Amino acid sequence: MAGHDNPGSTSCDLSEERIVSLLGPTLGPTPTLRVEPEVDSTNDHLARLRASGDAVDILIANAQSAGRGRRGRHWISPAGAGLYLSFFWPSDVPIRQRISLGLVAGLATAEAIEQSCGIGVGLKWPNDLQIHGRKLAGCLVEAGGTGNGPAAVIGIGINVDFANHAGPDQPWTDLVSVIGQRPDRNQLAAILINRLRANLDEFGQSGFAVMRQRWIQRDVLQGRCITAAGQGQATIHGRAAGLDESGHLLLDQDGRIHRLHAGEVTLQRPS
Ligand code: BTN
Repeated sequence: MAGHDNPGSTSCDLSEERIVSLLGPTLGPTPTLRVEPEVDSTNDHLARLRASGDAVDILIANAQSAGRGRRGRHWISPAGAGLYLSFFWPSDVPIRQRISLGLVAGLATAEAIEQSCGIGVGLKWPNDLQIHGRKLAGCLVEAGGTGNGPAAVIGIGINVDFANHAGPDQPWTDLVSVIGQRPDRNQLAAILINRLRANLDEFGQSGFAVMRQRWIQRDVLQGRCITAAGQGQATIHGRAAGLDESGHLLLDQDGRIHRLHAGEVTLQRPS
């Protein structure tokens, strides 16, 4: 398991030098990393930096004053309570593959937490991370074109220690509750960056299909009765039946298979 830092610490123990040293030998050039005590949203701040010509690849903040979640939700981001990280990916992945990018990021985050903290993490399509049905982390992928071509900003938020803070208004958990100690966020960040780079590299070369099996092993919806509310689609009820090669969620509605490429999924309560 990764080392841990002071229990209850909210001071900014995050350090650019330490994270870069923990990356070890990297695939390709060492990424340009910046740590800030507080920004509005790491996704927004990174996009602005890139637009102004600042070639930062990864931005991490100790706190966010206006952290954003999927579907316009607020992402609660108190100082020291989470890992708030955004990653610039200069790829021309088309909009319709944005869903796969969220899956790639979610898988990388689950694998990094597993490696760093020695626990198993579940994935709820499209890009929520859960433990025992409670949300631990989430990813927000956005277009981040800068005039030099299309690109994406991949934002990742991990709940680390919410003991002294009000959590989100949905069932949630944090790493301290699961592993009983505060993980070293520098080490977690370094492992996450390496995993994300490796998975994005694999995705860029071969697509989502090569990591589909690893995703499915962590799929918390598999075989469960779900309700899917799509963007501009009717609400559908059925049984979750895994993912296809492109990362679409398969929903079996009395033998008719629907492929969902976006939307919100909820588990149906047993009646
Ligand atoms: C979700 O599950 O709704 C996605 C949450 C994504 C939160 C992260 S925290 C770092 C980055 N900056 C943001 O404003 N949002 C993402």
